[in-house]
Amino acid sequence: MPTLRVIDRDGVERELNAPSGVSLMEPLRDMDDGVGAICGGMCSCATCHVYVDPEWVDRLPAPMSDEGDMLGDLRSRRDNSRLSCQIMLDESLGGLKVQIAPEE
Ligand code: FES
Repeated sequence: MPTLRVIDRDGVERELNAPSGVSLMEPLRDMDDGVGAICGGMCSCATCHVYVDPEWVDRLPAPMSDEGDMLGDLRSRRDNSRLSCQIMLDESLGGLKVQIAPEE
């Protein structure tokens, strides 16, 4: 069960225990004021947008082309942007730090 460090939209950092084998979007959706995730993880809404801490960017699998296409449409996109529904959690991601991006 990896422990995640999540900065919410108020700038408050929290620790979340998340199960392995689900996407990062799922524990973020369950937070108060977490991600919207309105497409349920189908990579078609971008409401699960997060910024990955720079220390972690290169430790994650690179985005597939459809994720890159969705991110490209966001005004709030940064170099460290990812869609949390496209990141599968496992023990190797213990300590992963992300910030929930603003709503668009
Ligand atoms: S939940 Fe819709 S793109 Fe991630």
